[in-house]
Amino acid sequence: MELLLFKHNRPGRVCTFEEYRDGGGFSGLKKAIAMAPLEVQQVVMDSGLRGRGGAGFPTGKKWSFVPRDLPGPRWLICNCDEMEPGTYKDRALLEANPYSLIEGMTIACYALGVRHAFIFIRKGYETAAANLARGIEEAKKAGLLGERILGTDFSVDLDLHLSAGRYICGEETALINALEGKRPNPRVKPPFPAIKGLWNSPTVVNNVETLANVPEILANGAAWFKGLAKNPEGAGNKLFCVSGSVAKRVCVELPIGTTLREIIDVHCGGMRDGKKFKACIPGGASTQFLTADHLDVPMDFDTVAKVGSRLGSGGVIVFDESQCLVAATLNLITFFARESCGWCTPCREGLPFVKEILQRIEVGRGEERDLEIMREHIKYLNYSFCALAPGAMAPLDGLLRSFEDEVREHILKGKCPYKTEKQI
Ligand SMILES: Cc1cc2nc3c(=O)[nH]c(=O)nc-3n(C[C@H](O)[C@H](O)[C@H](O)COP(=O)(O)O)c2cc1C
Ligand code: SF4
Repeated sequence: MELLLFKHNRPGRVCTFEEYRDGGGFSGLKKAIAMAPLEVQQVVMDSGLRGRGGAGFPTGKKWSFVPRDLPGPRWLICNCDEMEPGTYKDRALLEANPYSLIEGMTIACYALGVRHAFIFIRKGYETAAANLARGIEEAKKAGLLGERILGTDFSVDLDLHLSAGRYICGEETALINALEGKRPNPRVKPPFPAIKGLWNSPTVVNNVETLANVPEILANGAAWFKGLAKNPEGAGNKLFCVSGSVAKRVCVELPIGTTLREIIDVHCGGMRDGKKFKACIPGGASTQFLTADHLDVPMDFDTVAKVGSRLGSGGVIVFDESQCLVAATLNLITFFARESCGWCTPCREGLPFVKEILQRIEVGRGEERDLEIMREHIKYLNYSFCALAPGAMAPLDGLLRSFEDEVREHILKGKCPYKTEKQI
């Protein structure tokens, strides 16, 4: 298979500027600035690239929402908050090679008419941030960033912003508030950031992996990118970062449409200690469980949605037959309840309430009616201000849809069936 995102990776170290450039890096940028900005946007649109930050929104379409005729600045922000449990692909990408993102952002700025762009990077990603800071300086020195790029009239400044680190800062409008120095509560939408974003000007927020795809799309063309996917519904490759009960926890680049079975058996060396696969969360903590029945489902946005979950970020968390999914869901809800920004009532009050119910069930003090109460809360939490709360309900929804018997067993036996007497 053809690598795109990990093409320049070197074993055990970050690739250098020279290695990236000599390996064909910056040829996408050179091609782009010989075209009209709207032509560049059209190539990205035709490529079928969809956002890799979780929602899978078509990237070219998002760019096309930015008004071209308004006076004043436009902004581009790269979202490297990556605090979703189970997701570490942006870190893997940037620790191996910061240049694809820098080049991708420069091309995006050209297409969008942006003069100044930001990379919003979370606390804890110090190695990735250091690579980016060095890469920005190297690109500037080589005339590929900053004033008069490659001797043209096109100039871009790229700033790195280190976040204090909260999960809600990954939500694009909360991120914009954080970047403005305000409390990171999400903003009401519409207006969407493309119309009114950073300092009330048109703003595009894209994920690291999304933008890192852009150089190769420009260098090789839209049809080439589309053709990388294994099935006609998809386009391009995807980073899958796998954790949990597998023999090898890896971040791999694979064609969109690769099955879970291939990811686990071929790329992770199978299950840990030869255990049997029970379930997985396919796209970061805010996605529904998939079961053994889904092992042969092609991992592309539409097909995973059709079977009741989301491709999301590609953060695959694998569980084996010996693991309790009530405890796993409780662990995730505990994270979401802690990370709620507290702005709206359903999320601020609802998440701790659901957490308490799951806690009772896990220790054997649950009641039959808890199942119905939790189902009602999955509905109520959809009426929240941002997508954090519905996302938090996704694993619970999957638990109740596919593993209701396991929840009921906790209630009937008055204990967690997966814990030994000693553990209880
Ligand atoms: C609570 C919450 C956290 C999020 N965290 C991230 C994140 O860490 N990285 C990211 O790219 N998108 C995150 N998103 C999605 C962003 O709001 C936004 O959709 C994304 O950055 C758009 O980029 P894309 O179009 O390239 O996917 C989050 C959304 C929510 C609701
Ligand atoms: S859903 Fe939660 S995180 Fe989102 S605005 Fe409401 S309280 Fe804040």
